Amino acid sequence: MNKRILVVDDENLVTWSLEKALSKAGYSVDIAATGEEARQKFETFSPNVVLLDVRLPDVSGLNLLQEFKAQDKDVIIIMITAYADVDSAVQTLRDGAEDYVGKPFDLENIKHTVHKALEKKYLKQQVDYFKNEIRRKYTYDNLIGNSLAMIKVFKMIKICAETDAKIVLILGESGTGKELAANSIHFHSARSEAPFIEINCSAIPENLLENELFGHERGAYTDAGSRHRGIFESAEGGTVFLDEIGDMPLAMQPKILKVIENKKFRRLGGRNNIESDVRIIAASNQDLLGLVNEKKFRGDLFFRLNVMNIPLPPLRERKEDITALVNYFIGRLNEEYGWAVKGISERALNCLMNYNWPGNVRELRNAVERAMMLEQGNTLSAENFNHSATSFVRKDDKGFQDETQQGVVRSGNGKIVLPSEGIALKDVEKDLIRQALERYRGNQTKAAKCLKMTRDTLRYRMKKYDFQLQEWKM
Ligand SMILES: Nc1ncnc2c1ncn2[C@@H]1O[C@H](COP(=O)(O)OP(=O)(O)OP(=O)(O)O)[C@@H](O)[C@H]1O
Ligand SMILES: [Mg+2]
Repeated sequence: MNKRILVVDDENLVTWSLEKALSKAGYSVDIAATGEEARQKFETFSPNVVLLDVRLPDVSGLNLLQEFKAQDKDVIIIMITAYADVDSAVQTLRDGAEDYVGKPFDLENIKHTVHKALEKKYLKQQVDYFKNEIRRKYTYDNLIGNSLAMIKVFKMIKICAETDAKIVLILGESGTGKELAANSIHFHSARSEAPFIEINCSAIPENLLENELFGHERGAYTDAGSRHRGIFESAEGGTVFLDEIGDMPLAMQPKILKVIENKKFRRLGGRNNIESDVRIIAASNQDLLGLVNEKKFRGDLFFRLNVMNIPLPPLRERKEDITALVNYFIGRLNEEYGWAVKGISERALNCLMNYNWPGNVRELRNAVERAMMLEQGNTLSAENFNHSATSFVRKDDKGFQDETQQGVVRSGNGKIVLPSEGIALKDVEKDLIRQALERYRGNQTKAAKCLKMTRDTLRYRMKKYDFQLQEWKM
């Protein structure tokens, strides 16, 4: 940590001892005995920290403090005061000093104060950085699309964000951008400074879900050690994102309905109601109304959730978005990996246009990323997409016309057709497993369900074909 510290004091013994102690602690140290000298050094040495005596021969330390803060709002100023004068010390804090130390001082104490101040600054910078990153990631600009269908989606997101809609339901197939849309709503609303907390209802065992959502009191059940605040409490003022709500256990559903209606809940084992001001965004890739009809989802909850409904259309119904999405992903991934891919060839784009994209935007992003890995510096060609899980480019160099004409597996009427030139069954199996994993982002349970095999069988085959699970995680 090569930080620069400027020590400003007119007592030689003070500057001498501080310079020695702080240099020994690994800092670069410079000293100044007067206000004038301090101004010069502030310019040339550009310190991260200034240890500043309140009383200087030519200028008041308080004035200097204000000057320095005006020049560099990030500089850390720690005042040195000879008098145990609390009033002036408090005044310096109000004027932007980080801390103060009294004379005579203890060198260890000063080192500790400097270290603490630098650490606090560093943490604040980290937090600001991540806040910005999150904002950057979830602006409207990152939801790409200029199709009519997507413009409708943007409008709905804007309305939900600006009107502080308390309940929003986002429906759409896997990979259509539900999570992105939920984040967009949160980060464009007055709630953006408060937390956005996501919970995937299908990933948490039924017996733990209630605890996760509402928390518990100490001793509420056998392993309940100390009090635990649940998601509804931690997200106060912000947003709770209930992802995959279609998988929420039936027993939990009335409890969610109750929070929505009463805006109150209780921790498990708790006696007091806790007021709750959160926006609930629920998302599902299932046909919720169908689930209601099958009695797998409560009708009352569905109708309560279904007030502001944002349907995200599958990519195959808005293929006009593909060009913009591909260019956007090329830009983002170039930036992320330091690649210099210039664009995509007409033919490759045609291939992408003619594919059906069952995994929607996520699948497109993965295909572009894989193609870019192969290319890295030029224009993406159709061949670059050949290695993709969606190997939709045929070796006969014509580009894929229509999956029902040339695909390896054709399922127009649910029938699989053997191509005239024959086919390696092993490759078909491998490709389908790859696609299933891709669609469910490496979730083996779901991939296995979709392939109508057990998870163990899937695992066995994955091993056989040497699949690395990491590949599908995004
Ligand atoms: N309109 C879009 N513009 C840019 N990127 C998008 C868009 N839609 C989706 N993506 C990207 O596609 C990927 C999948 O999106 P997201 O996770 O939001 O989908 P999802 O609908 O929540 O999927 P799932 O149902 O599987 O959870 C992410 O990398 C996301 O950034
Ligand atoms: Mg999602």
